Amino acid sequence: MSITSRVVRIDEVGGAEHMHLVQVEVGDPGPGEVRIRHHAIGLNFIDVYQRTGLYKFPMPLSLGMEGAGVIEAVGEGVSHLHVGDRAAYAANPPGSYCDVRVMPAMNVCRLPEAISFEEGAAMMLKGLTAQYLLKRSRPVEGLEPGDFVLFHAAAGGVGLIACQWARALGLQLIATAGSDAKCELALANGAAYAINYNSEDFAARVLDITRGQGVKVVYDSVGKDTWDKSLDCLRPFGLMVSFGNASGPVPPFAPGILGAKGSLYVTRQTLFSHITSRERTQSMADDLFAVVSSGQVKIHIDQRYPLEQVRQAHRDLEARKTTGCTVLTV
Ligand SMILES: NC(=O)c1ccc[n+]([C@@H]2O[C@H](COP(=O)([O-])OP(=O)(O)OC[C@H]3O[C@@H](n4cnc5c(N)ncnc54)[C@H](OP(=O)(O)O)[C@@H]3O)[C@@H](O)[C@H]2O)c1
Repeated sequence: MSITSRVVRIDEVGGAEHMHLVQVEVGDPGPGEVRIRHHAIGLNFIDVYQRTGLYKFPMPLSLGMEGAGVIEAVGEGVSHLHVGDRAAYAANPPGSYCDVRVMPAMNVCRLPEAISFEEGAAMMLKGLTAQYLLKRSRPVEGLEPGDFVLFHAAAGGVGLIACQWARALGLQLIATAGSDAKCELALANGAAYAINYNSEDFAARVLDITRGQGVKVVYDSVGKDTWDKSLDCLRPFGLMVSFGNASGPVPPFAPGILGAKGSLYVTRQTLFSHITSRERTQSMADDLFAVVSSGQVKIHIDQRYPLEQVRQAHRDLEARKTTGCTVLTV
């Protein structure tokens, strides 16, 4: 029996109008692979970087790195998944914007019953990112309950998960966001303070809040627009974690600036360095499943679009119209 799927593809990089739906045949999984039928698909800012060509991939490219659904077939050598399992993933290669796909099983995890398909699709890439940021991207002096950290774009998908998780860890997360309404949302989700960085000087406010000391860590996914001032928010030996470029990539800088601002540390992190083995993926996912199942972290799905409206979904994400997570429905 032949299986077909709708897939969102681009033939060349560019605007949202370059995405189109095509019909493809889907085969059987080979060794180390599974076939998964999606119930929901996650939308991420990284999909925009791939579509616009900021992150380079060979063309044509099927988009999407996050999804949840039911395992339909299992290839040789896959022992952690079985036909009929509910499952969710954040994974390479891209291609989750589809009904059904064959993909490597390594990053696909069984989804606990307490977590819905939509939550699974929304939270794997963003939640595993929050996990490694808060648990594995630590300053040399460590992070203790009560410590201040600064988290940019805190009302977004990764941001709202990080606000709640930081509160659960006892951290005082200072949120930034682009409107007063988004600041309210960050506060309602566990941020200790919130700064509208479109109307306030966030570095001055951070120094105010921390009584001139600065924060131990800045988590910066905005990039170009926030980089310079973020360095001014750190206390000596503080850690600048750059993990995205929503406003554009960070320009080259002279390392001497790090000495001048207090012997700072800088790291550029990506989830895909953290989930290179099945064991590591599963242990990070177990940690995420635990905070979601316990209710400490709620997955806010604030936007839903049918797969065929993916262009609008991208446009809204890029125009900063979204909050929390967005899913594509099939
Ligand atoms: N390295 C990794 O491992 C990794 C993994 C996942 C995500 N990320 C990064 O983390 C960030 C958040 O991802 P997400 O999918 O959850 O997206 P998101 O936070 O829901 O959306 C991006 C947000 O960035 C802010 N932003 C600031 N300047 C912007 C600009 N010029 N254009 C568009 N948005 C701008 C907007 O919030 P305001 O309106 O509040 O400014 C916007 O809502 C992205 O930069 C993403 O690439 C990195």
